[in-house]
Amino acid sequence: MTALTNICPPPRGGRAFDPYAVRAQFPILSRTVNGKPLVYLDSAASAQKPRAVIDALTAAMEGSYANVHRGLHTLANETTEAFEAARETVARYLNAETPENIVWTKGGTEAMNLVAAGLGHASGDRAIRPGDEIIISQMEHHSNIVPWHLLRERHGAVLRWIPVLDDGSLDMDAYAALLGPRTRMVAVTHMSNVLGTVNPVTEITRMAHAAGAQVLIDGCQGAVHCSPDVQAIGCDFYVLTGHKLFGPTGIGALYGRTEALEALPPYQGGGEMIASVSEDEVRYAAPPHRFEAGTPPILEAIGLGAALTWLSAHDAGGVRAHEAALLAHVQGRLEGLNWLTEIGTAPGKGAIFTFTVEGAHAHDIAQVMDRYGVAVRAGTHCAEPLSRRFGITSSARASFALYNTLEDADAFADALIKAREFFA
Ligand SMILES: Cc1ncc(COP(=O)(O)O)c(C=O)c1O
Repeated sequence: MTALTNICPPPRGGRAFDPYAVRAQFPILSRTVNGKPLVYLDSAASAQKPRAVIDALTAAMEGSYANVHRGLHTLANETTEAFEAARETVARYLNAETPENIVWTKGGTEAMNLVAAGLGHASGDRAIRPGDEIIISQMEHHSNIVPWHLLRERHGAVLRWIPVLDDGSLDMDAYAALLGPRTRMVAVTHMSNVLGTVNPVTEITRMAHAAGAQVLIDGCQGAVHCSPDVQAIGCDFYVLTGHKLFGPTGIGALYGRTEALEALPPYQGGGEMIASVSEDEVRYAAPPHRFEAGTPPILEAIGLGAALTWLSAHDAGGVRAHEAALLAHVQGRLEGLNWLTEIGTAPGKGAIFTFTVEGAHAHDIAQVMDRYGVAVRAGTHCAEPLSRRFGITSSARASFALYNTLEDADAFADALIKAREFFA
């Protein structure tokens, strides 16, 4: 078995990155928790918000707010411009062909459901038939598993699973063997929210297309850490979620290649997604509006646009090098501890440190660490097949972002060692 790991593009060197200057832009990071300075290491679940995003939301609500697309008055026009400018920002961030390739959703989960449900609603040659195969991997988040299970339950699709190797990388030989004439869709994560593994999404896409299948990349983590370029990847769909990208909750985006979006039936019905409606007939609007029934998440989209503009102002190579240094520091501090097991050690993985502690449940470890102000996550991280693959029922996870510092990394290592002493 061979593993192929797509390392995030190497740091370009470039501008110096100053995490302290970044950190100062996040008001919440100066608060205390249980009398200790907050050490926030749960950004893979949801990231904190910089002043630029808070201000953009406030400015929209205070200065120019109305419903979009339908008004002839000034506030409606201004808000529509800001809303569509945010779509352009997402398109630029992903290097999408045009803003029309970007569909607003309420998060990553809804984007995955939109594609899976659309395939389920397709008719004729495009319909999902019993025995059609969907390939996903053992490291997927439930939101890139359950929508495909719905296709299995409702249309008889068959789920095929790419195994994960011991170091947390994908078994690419097994993937090659899974592809076949019945493969309709390959849906894999860009970066695992548990293992930190960065998958070779360009290669995965090339292989799927050669087999005649479509590709969806779950970029809920990858969009934060891997500077995705959807045209270079070549995928049919790419998903991101706002709240992990330092933006608001309630907003996400689905990138779709023009032909892929045009071939997809609508997800929900309502206002905004139609060309015309009569007593007998409805004609749908062109993408992306066809997929955006009802009043969209206007403020949230504007907030996400502000977040991506803010994030893009930092040198991506510098950020990646900084996050990699934090991970390496933690790994160095904890190396050789015989009670600690790191889950996921694939080369080039992102700054996620998932672990189990001998003799202590992950929930207990997380709770004791919270007493020291250190916020980590514990549980299955919405990836139960992966937990089963590693023979564990739960693990704890520290996930790093650009606003974390070496002091945070040390505070994490110190609190973990103290937590373990508590249970030893
Ligand atoms: C890899 C991955 N995919 C999908 C999701 C779901 O995103 P959302 O909760 O924004 O719908 C998450 C969130 O944890 C994730 O980490």
